[in-house]
Amino acid sequence: MSKKNDIEQEQVVTPWAVEFGSDGKIDYQKLTEEFGCQEIDERLIERIERITETKAHAFLRRGLFFAHRELDEICTAYEKGEKFYLYTGRGPSSESLHLGHLVPFQFTKWLQDAFKVPLVIQLTDDEKFLWKDLQLEDCRRLARENAKDIIACGFNPKTTFIFADVSYMCTPFYVNMVKIAKCVTFNQAKGIFGFTGDSNIGQIGFPPVQAAPSFPDCFPHMFGMNKKSLKCLIPCAIDQDPYFRMTRDVAHRLGGYKPALVESRFFPALKGESGKMSASDPTSAIYVTDSAKEIRNKINKHAFSGGGATIEEQREKGANLDVDVPWKWLNFFLDDDEKLKEIGEKYSSGEMLTGEIKQILADCLTPIVEEHQIRRANVTDEVLDMYFSIKPRVFLDLFQKYEEKDGSWTVVETDLSKALEEKMKLDEEDEEDTTVSQDKNDEEAGCAIGAPKSDDWLRIRKERLKKDAPTEGSKSALKKAAKIKAAQEKKEAEKLAKAAAKEASAAATMS
Ligand code: TYM
Repeated sequence: MSKKNDIEQEQVVTPWAVEFGSDGKIDYQKLTEEFGCQEIDERLIERIERITETKAHAFLRRGLFFAHRELDEICTAYEKGEKFYLYTGRGPSSESLHLGHLVPFQFTKWLQDAFKVPLVIQLTDDEKFLWKDLQLEDCRRLARENAKDIIACGFNPKTTFIFADVSYMCTPFYVNMVKIAKCVTFNQAKGIFGFTGDSNIGQIGFPPVQAAPSFPDCFPHMFGMNKKSLKCLIPCAIDQDPYFRMTRDVAHRLGGYKPALVESRFFPALKGESGKMSASDPTSAIYVTDSAKEIRNKINKHAFSGGGATIEEQREKGANLDVDVPWKWLNFFLDDDEKLKEIGEKYSSGEMLTGEIKQILADCLTPIVEEHQIRRANVTDEVLDMYFSIKPRVFLDLFQKYEEKDGSWTVVETDLSKALEEKMKLDEEDEEDTTVSQDKNDEEAGCAIGAPKSDDWLRIRKERLKKDAPTEGSKSALKKAAKIKAAQEKKEAEKLAKAAAKEASAAATMS
């Protein structure tokens, strides 16, 4: 499927197709204007550094994450002590990820650590089944395989929830989907996504599936049932923007916040920016499964060079950094700003040769890939289940409001009493374990709501929000839960006593 964005005749960017302009490039500035997002400027980067007290990630410093929607509003809210959650995803269509796929996940990991916020990761096994020539069972299996690579990026299992659409689909998720679907006409969907008469109706109905996780009540086991409990920030490459343009357009009609976005450029293919990284051509990309030898060979043989054709030419004219893939890749993966600057100067002036920059790139990527492989090997099925588990991970402190009265803090507003009541009902039914496996019917469990048990979260919150004294939200919520339980038990006992009294009086009448 392809939809012209009318930027230039040739440039096409949709979630399913990226076609480059006649010059073999994407004009990101024009794309930003066309999509209606804003460019990330120095001021915003400095602001993020200031409020997180963390040096900006290289992807931000170097303009690789270059566009946003309402990222400044997220910062303003954060400065006031409000939290948000991160939402990102992956369409599982291949066994392993290439380096380009790591980009949004590495950045998301940085955001999670810098802002200390929870994260949800969607694996759209349904999307890939609808678009690719794959069996649904394969897409479901690939979702779990890809999740291992995502987990290997280092996400905290206590604050990260990974779900595959087909397994997780539950009432709160579906409720959001249908409500979104009702707000978007077929004509609008055609305009946004370029659907045609040949699109299957599963494709046409899919966008609400990717839109829904922008609302926190899709995840009651993490965020409770209030659609406005938390704002959402979505890191992704700019190809995913159409989904969230649509989401932002309908958010108010659902009573939710518009999701904010932070968007990246594309990591270029090995054979040149306008090429495609494709699983069917293993030399077109470096995969996280490649060996050190394969990495070196691929870079030496296939990386598109902007250097001179001969040593003499390179020495005389220097390299064209605008098209040179090793240089572009180093911009993504070499963290040392000074070293990068030096390489750029030497290579563009001709002091450095193509073989040398390729060597530097291979030396830079090999440990990154090898370390990834070690971390991935540690992701057993058990570890995987921790991330997929819908065991309660409620971040109570995130959506309770406190008030100081006579020197102590009390909860003045919460949407959780109902949630806790529900949770207790479910607990009675299933004391043991609420962990869900991929094959289990998840509907009821997927809606489970729970009280928090995140010591880490409390610790982090204590550290970060010193001015915001209450960190006892969890304790008070648990007390509340105990109260509710005691009230229920009392009610039950009264009922039994009443029934016994009734029986006794009936017996007395008979005699
Ligand atoms: P998918 O699997 O195509 O891509 C996963 C993520 O990687 C980004 N991406 C890239 N980033 C930089 N350079 C590249 N060459 C490159 N190729 C892909 C994508 O923008 C994406 O962020 N439908 C989605 C899955 C999804 C999702 C989401 C993505 C579901 N919910 C929320 C982002 C946010 C997909 O198929 O992504």
